[in-house]
Amino acid sequence: MSVFPKDFLWGAATAAYQVEGGFEADGKGASNWDLFSHLPGTTYQGTNGDVAVDHYHRFKEDVALMAELGMQTYRFSISWPRILPQGRGQVNEAGIAFYSNLIDELLKHNIRPMITLYHWDLPQALQEAFGGWESREIVDAFDEYARLCYRRFGDRVDLWSTFNETVVFIGMGYFTGAHPPSLKDPKKGIQACHHVFLANARAVKSFRELGINGQIGFVNVMQPHDPISDSPQDRRACEIAEGIFTHWLYDPVLKGEYPAELLAMAQQAFGVPQFAPGDEALLKDNIVDFIGLNYYKREMVAHNEDVEGYAINTSGQKGSGRELGFKGLFKLVRNPNGVYTDWDWEIYPQGLTDAIGRIVKRYGNIPTYITENGLGAKDPIVEGEVRDQPRIDYLRDHIQAIGAAIEQGADVRGYYPWSFIDLLSWLNGYQKQYGFVYVDHANNLARRKKQSFGWYQRVIASNGERL
Ligand code: BG6
Repeated sequence: MSVFPKDFLWGAATAAYQVEGGFEADGKGASNWDLFSHLPGTTYQGTNGDVAVDHYHRFKEDVALMAELGMQTYRFSISWPRILPQGRGQVNEAGIAFYSNLIDELLKHNIRPMITLYHWDLPQALQEAFGGWESREIVDAFDEYARLCYRRFGDRVDLWSTFNETVVFIGMGYFTGAHPPSLKDPKKGIQACHHVFLANARAVKSFRELGINGQIGFVNVMQPHDPISDSPQDRRACEIAEGIFTHWLYDPVLKGEYPAELLAMAQQAFGVPQFAPGDEALLKDNIVDFIGLNYYKREMVAHNEDVEGYAINTSGQKGSGRELGFKGLFKLVRNPNGVYTDWDWEIYPQGLTDAIGRIVKRYGNIPTYITENGLGAKDPIVEGEVRDQPRIDYLRDHIQAIGAAIEQGADVRGYYPWSFIDLLSWLNGYQKQYGFVYVDHANNLARRKKQSFGWYQRVIASNGERL
């Protein structure tokens, strides 16, 4: 018998900028990514989401493929500037119509939508008006945007999440500079991150005030950290890394407060986050209904006296990246016994069971969705077929890892592999493929089912028994 509950949801995920295209279509405003990706040297070989995989124009064909795959749920994001071109004020009805039609098409095929409100594409107008996430004004703006979405789509959508992976858009936007607005300014970054938590709390509050029939959650990267050795220094370094990358991001939305030790460290070093009257209560009173975990890899951590900065492997040439280090705190190091992808991500399914267990231990048995999980690879085409056996192996092992967590009592309710279809990887172009559906960029973006498509179809049909 399957270990997955009868009502377990099997789906897949995407995000607006990575699939839609139509970057100037029908009154859409510019996003921060529309600008950033057009700047020389920012992305792999200058790739951008101007056309992406043209989901904006082909969503019906795509939903038909989702239905054929047997998907019971689909996680996608709304492009804020598509429906509010200036970020606030004037609504673009054509943008609303696109999402409304997408939702109807999904429901027609019995696919339950899960909406992400923010998957990194900020209206550029708000970046220019007040510096985007750096300003408290963003909290009101985000709340207005969220309310608009609830009002227009809340009659048909009952699974929502506010944000996707704060650690990435704040970390890379304000600490490493690899994402817009390309700053290396921890003080601004920590305060911007605080505004994200406030915006989340306000949007959760509005969701409840408007009486939307459904659940609202928050999606985070889940990257468990393990020390490279048993030495007290490595274990302490690991504790700090786990504190920054996990507790800092999860505590405010699941406990309504920051981890105390790190908060004191940040305020001492940088004087932030600055709280305004009412912030603490807002966070405390608006805990999310569920947590979404995006799991790809774990990280090994070591004590660090020398390494500062990092280099990302964006080419898929094994070993071309250099792991992240914060001098005096910790560094991420390679596991000598680990198995790695071509982009140097460790493949470690056990980490997913561990990660879910760590969440339960710290926050209790909260409803959990695995909102992303997948293998980025250059899939070979053999005799006309996209043979992605490594993806099948990766997903199978991770589904088993979720099954193990469920057997241990965790309340995991759904699984959304990343991604439904091959799409734009923000910094890695189109060659880092994740989908069940291949997109032929040399042939008018024609869709083709991969080997993994038939496999996942059977997994869903058997509720996770036929792996
Ligand atoms: C997550 C994001 O970080 O990982 C996705 O939510 C992203 O948008 C995915 O595409 C995989 O990362 P990458 O860098 O391989 O595209």
